[in-house]
Amino acid sequence: PVNLRGRSFLKLLDYSPKEINYLLDLSRDLKRAKYTGTERQTMKGKNVALIFEKSSTRTRCAFEVGAMDQGAGVTYLGPTGSQMGTKETVKDTARVLGGMYDGIEYRGFSQEAVETLSEFSGVPVWNGLTDEFHPTQILADWLTIKEHKGHLKGIKFAYVGDGRNNMANSLMIGAAKMGMDFRIVSPKSLFPEQELVDNAKEIAKENDAKITVTDSVDDGVAGVDVIYTDVWVSMGEPEEVWEERINLLKPYQVNKEMMNKADSEAIFMHCLPSFHDTKTKVGKDIYEKFGLEAMEVTDEVFESKQSVVFAEAENRMHTIKAVMVATLGD
Ligand code: CP
Ligand code: NVA
Repeated sequence: PVNLRGRSFLKLLDYSPKEINYLLDLSRDLKRAKYTGTERQTMKGKNVALIFEKSSTRTRCAFEVGAMDQGAGVTYLGPTGSQMGTKETVKDTARVLGGMYDGIEYRGFSQEAVETLSEFSGVPVWNGLTDEFHPTQILADWLTIKEHKGHLKGIKFAYVGDGRNNMANSLMIGAAKMGMDFRIVSPKSLFPEQELVDNAKEIAKENDAKITVTDSVDDGVAGVDVIYTDVWVSMGEPEEVWEERINLLKPYQVNKEMMNKADSEAIFMHCLPSFHDTKTKVGKDIYEKFGLEAMEVTDEVFESKQSVVFAEAENRMHTIKAVMVATLGD
């Protein structure tokens, strides 16, 4: 039997397929319990700290609602206002918070920071996104695919866009573990680190998965069940990269024409937030500077029937709750 009590959730590389399936099943059960008003609280008397060095809507709210639903207390520590990173090291912060809290979520820049927090706090630490990985997002994505397609094994999945970011990395490892037919479709200069690809291919062998990295949209998305994309510039990257990224990634925009190359029942996914119109501050800037009305996905696809992005966003909460319950619940 799977027992995750006391474990941290730092990256999918640390979790076996069986453990990932356990978390997905628990997510489904917790979602059903919430819908039917039969949820049982397993985190009463516990307190969790949520550290965010970068902004967040979904991840923060998912941790807060998940913890509150389960009866736990929550402290939010935003990008400013705590001593961590300016006056105090991660290692010291870990030992301080570990003495007060039962669990710690961390979103920030380096994967090393979240690993250090886990090593020195003595309590479960959950990765809410680093430059390298975004593992809780993958759980929500896999739950969403299961809900729409019934299973994960053999699912043809194309991740289109920036192949070097945290989403590409985590999806690739997650897909290799779950036996999926996974493709990264991106320009060659944005292919993921070769070492991680080799690692994913090794994992894939054990699980009947397939990992392909290609710069050809036609080859990559032909007949797939899922087209997934993410922003072209991630949080923490410098302003200067915008122009180069836009030029590189324009042919990789998810639009109607690309969706038509996928299976006719294909779904569109995105971790969000997404630049699909000019109604945000960034969207407006991009329009003014580069004349683009949308970046990684057109508004047409984003708002289409094939798009499951808001079901996916809701699933962040059910899956993050499952991670907390599994590692900290009684
Ligand atoms: N998908 C995701 O992590 O969203 P937030 O940045 O809003 O948390
Ligand atoms: N790659 C994006 C994901 C946001 C959820 C970023 O890191 O900004």
